Amino acid sequence: MDNIKVLINEEQIKERILELSKDIRDAYNGESVHIVCILKGGVMFFTELAKALVDLDPTFDFMSCSSYNNNTESSGTVKINKDLDEDIEGKNVLIVEDIIDTGYTLSYVVDMLKTRKPKNIDVCTLLDKPYRREVEVEVRFVGFEIEDRFVVGFGLDNMQKLRSLNYVGYIE
Ligand code: IMP
Ligand code: MG
Repeated sequence: MDNIKVLINEEQIKERILELSKDIRDAYNGESVHIVCILKGGVMFFTELAKALVDLDPTFDFMSCSSYNNNTESSGTVKINKDLDEDIEGKNVLIVEDIIDTGYTLSYVVDMLKTRKPKNIDVCTLLDKPYRREVEVEVRFVGFEIEDRFVVGFGLDNMQKLRSLNYVGYIE
């Protein structure tokens, strides 16, 4: 793993998650939040963010979808591997994602969840590559905008590997 360069270190991620949790707390104004983790990439960010939001006593749910066919280009088609367990009607839903690239995954998920009549849907992503967008998607909370590199770690994978790194890095 020595050919991986650190892009965002553990301390920077921690600090940013704390800031994001404050923004989220302000946005919901004491109302309850239902946080939806997009598996698998969102899982590390989700657990850290959830801990920082303990005073909102959020409820959790999980969804698994894939748009990458084990390579580094988005296919544009999204497959739902695991749907939510809970009904979201009338809830403040906060989708927690690892990274937004072309936007295909998230726009599909948001459109699908909107049909279930939540009170509100917001998106919180750890990483964003805005200049890569191919479809419009509204993202309310962004951890870091990053340059055009394929990144790994803190949940993000390269062919299912390197998810457990405690930092975000790129392969040299
Ligand atoms: P999109 O549909 O193109 O926005 O792709 C979103 C999904 O692709 C993310 O949830 C990631 O799982 C994956 N992805 C996009 N960029 C990267 C990257 O740089 N590293 C690892 N996974 C990525
Ligand atoms: Mg993802």
